[in-house]
Amino acid sequence: MTQSVDNPVSPSRFDQVIDRNGFNAMSQVGYRDYLFKGEEINLTHRQEDLIMMWVADMAFPAPRAATDAMLRRIEHGVFGYTANMDDTYYNAFNSWTMRRLGWGFEREQLFISSGVIPALFSLVEIVCARDEKVMTLTPAYGFFKHAATRHQRELVTSSLVICDGNYRIDLEDFRQKAADPKLKLFFLCHPHNPTGRVWDREELCQMAEICFENDVLIVSDEVHCDLLRMGNTHQPLAGLYPDSHSIVTCMAPSKTFNLAGMQIANIVIPDPELAERWKERNLPVVNPISLAAARGVYENGEEWLDELRVYLDGNFALVKSFLSEHLPAAKFNVPEATYLAWIDIGSYFPETMNLTRFFAENASVILEGGEMFIANGENRIRLNLACPRSVVLECLKRMRDSIADTHNLIRQIN
Ligand SMILES: Cc1ncc(COP(=O)(O)O)c(C=O)c1O
Repeated sequence: MTQSVDNPVSPSRFDQVIDRNGFNAMSQVGYRDYLFKGEEINLTHRQEDLIMMWVADMAFPAPRAATDAMLRRIEHGVFGYTANMDDTYYNAFNSWTMRRLGWGFEREQLFISSGVIPALFSLVEIVCARDEKVMTLTPAYGFFKHAATRHQRELVTSSLVICDGNYRIDLEDFRQKAADPKLKLFFLCHPHNPTGRVWDREELCQMAEICFENDVLIVSDEVHCDLLRMGNTHQPLAGLYPDSHSIVTCMAPSKTFNLAGMQIANIVIPDPELAERWKERNLPVVNPISLAAARGVYENGEEWLDELRVYLDGNFALVKSFLSEHLPAAKFNVPEATYLAWIDIGSYFPETMNLTRFFAENASVILEGGEMFIANGENRIRLNLACPRSVVLECLKRMRDSIADTHNLIRQIN
């Protein structure tokens, strides 16, 4: 049954709560290392009663388009070395981008990677020498930093600024930083994690032209591009500059169809020289089951995705109305894309604090506080809304109660 925003209580396939404990799910067990670096935390609920709103994967099963394709591939029974040799996968993915984004690319420009993250790491090593630099806009997805600094390249950040309640690029700062002759690579996140901005044509052109003038390669991470609020559109950066060799585009079925564990991503490299260097470092082999799943969803996953988007819109509407009613000092705009809610909750806390720890210990909600996003994330939390609506509601109630309890405590002490 289709879920509608107007009727957010109607049953949907996305309402089903699925227990992920016992499956080595990063979401369930990886938070201690990633969020707390192994430090002690005082949790009041049992592991199975925690609400996981952090890592960006979904609590929903992948579509039948993926599982049917995987099952068919498994039935074949032979799983020898596999690579993206014929045109079938290219045709499926290129017609997906043509249909949904109005952008296509040449067959020889497509490379398959075991994820966007490994591609980011690899591109830093290929493009930047040891003393050269990488830039991104903050707040930012943590792996942009890791991709630079774990290879001993310096990360330069340009802080987004809030203008009329929305995140904007500080073009003067961006221009100044891009002019550093040591700066060779810009990680653009489009749509942007964690703010959910879908950069418009003017913003894209402004950033791109500054990068072109300064000979900075743009790696446009567009992994969230299919997860738009209904009615929104996404313009791939490369679509604005079809003849440019200075843009690498990263897209994947991982976020769109909840296939992150299958480890497959699409990297489009139009510069033949860069493509050669990519090939020297990256073997062309791909997991045959992942390849089948990715082709399956690009061919047959469209209906499921649009149903998912309506459901996510409903989850965002719930967060918006709950916050206005119960936590009115929170600042929140429904994002243009992603399934991530980026909320300024600072008014409820007397001083900047580690909100990841606060909500884990006081609400048993595992979320990512602003400190996880490199810089410029103070007072914010990021909630992953790709889960059943009942879970979103319970999370919000626990957060509200934990804030109320803390305020009562402070009042009693004073
Ligand atoms: C902007 C961005 N890039 C890349 C990734 C991870 O991509 P992959 O799972 O394909 O490595 C994420 C996951 O959250 C992300 O938000």
